[in-house]
Amino acid sequence: MLDATPKMLPGSDERMSRIPLLLDIGKNGPRQPNGRTAAERIHASKHKVLSVVGARPNFVKLAPVHRALVKRFDHVIVHTGQHYDYALSEVFFQHLNLPDPDYELNVGSGSHGYQLGEMIKKTEEVLLLEKPEIVVVYGDTNSTLAGALAAAKVRIPVAHVEAGLRCFDMTMAEEINRVLTDHVARYLFAPTKTALRNLVREHCSGEMFFTGDVMVETLRENMKGVGRSSQMIDKLDLGSRPYVLATIHRSENTENRNRLANIVEAIRRIGKRVIFPAHPRTIKALTECGLHKVLMSCSNVTLTSPMGFLDFIEVERNANVILTDSGGVQKEAYLLGIPCVTLRERTEWVETVSSGWNRLVGVDVERIVKAVHSFRPRKPRRAVFGTGKASERIADLLCGGLKHCV
Ligand code: UD1
Ligand code: UDP
Repeated sequence: MLDATPKMLPGSDERMSRIPLLLDIGKNGPRQPNGRTAAERIHASKHKVLSVVGARPNFVKLAPVHRALVKRFDHVIVHTGQHYDYALSEVFFQHLNLPDPDYELNVGSGSHGYQLGEMIKKTEEVLLLEKPEIVVVYGDTNSTLAGALAAAKVRIPVAHVEAGLRCFDMTMAEEINRVLTDHVARYLFAPTKTALRNLVREHCSGEMFFTGDVMVETLRENMKGVGRSSQMIDKLDLGSRPYVLATIHRSENTENRNRLANIVEAIRRIGKRVIFPAHPRTIKALTECGLHKVLMSCSNVTLTSPMGFLDFIEVERNANVILTDSGGVQKEAYLLGIPCVTLRERTEWVETVSSGWNRLVGVDVERIVKAVHSFRPRKPRRAVFGTGKASERIADLLCGGLKHCV
């Protein structure tokens, strides 16, 4: 029988006894990553790195990095609970072959202040218990910033995967999260050369590295058997006719009725089949604005639940055009060679635009419809996101940072 009772660390009695009040320690009690109990992990001889994740795009980035970290470190995974629906969270752990999180903080939805406050408070508790040597955060969600701030405040070095991305619009929650995370991070892993230049220009104090983008690996690893593991093409009857894949969830578009109405009108006018796996935020906004029934009545539109990663990339790689406001989807469209029409005025993934594969159209109905019908990029695509070795490089660099990694 495995011992499920964590041993007390010196001076930690009070904190340890408080932990169960705030935290769910894994789904089935303390987990045994790599076959070890929580107590054994705490006393493990390997250096300990802890990742904080919480939302769909965090999980997609965590997957390859976890595989590289676990070869060299004791890797602890903390899930803040920002995303909690099966379709936004658990399915990604299954499809991406990730172990269950070691800690689930169950923070859930709420205002940004509430969400960040709860995440920071609960993450700090875990950090004081686990005492990792480095905390790794991913991308630009509230979970990213909360993990970074919690670690910085207890003086644990922060490593930021996907550092340096900027769209230069500080009204966006994601831009605030990126900038602040980068300025407290000790290790900055830039996915593109532009991102590296942004970090240099801002005089970030951490050590900066161009590593390439870890999502190249996520996509590459999962493209292999995807045709076999996903039945989505048959299920949606997408075999023969061209279709557009649409994903819309950014608050700039969903929380503004006029923008959302324009997007719905454009989708209606596109005429072609549109597959639209909708985020719960989008369904909520469409319903509140009375636009859900408009979309449901469009014969060309198939509104679905959010898709698991393997189903999504199968539908993505077979699409004729992608219509999106997602950061990750713009990048995947480029990597897959699918024309991308982006429902934003600016993007942090500037290489996708300058290479000619991504067109920024905002929410102008005519521009959206025209781009979907006529935008057919032909230019060659360069390896602007690196060659698929980012995770190993990140793990090596963290080993170097800890010098005596086992
Ligand atoms: C978050 C990220 C965004 C990212 C997106 C990926 C921030 C500030 N935003 O936005 O950058 O692109 O994730 O999908 O971190 N909800 C559910 N079920 C869930 C989670 C959320 O129904 O499992 C609903 C709730 O009504 C919630 C709303 O979606 O209020 C928004 O969720 P939240 O996590 O705050 O932001 P996202 O829009 O998901
Ligand atoms: N994604 C998914 N199912 C969906 C929509 C998106 O698996 O229904 C994946 C997509 O392949 C990408 C990631 O989610 O890897 C992007 O996350 P999202 O668009 O939610 O966030 P963003 O990248 O905009 O922060």
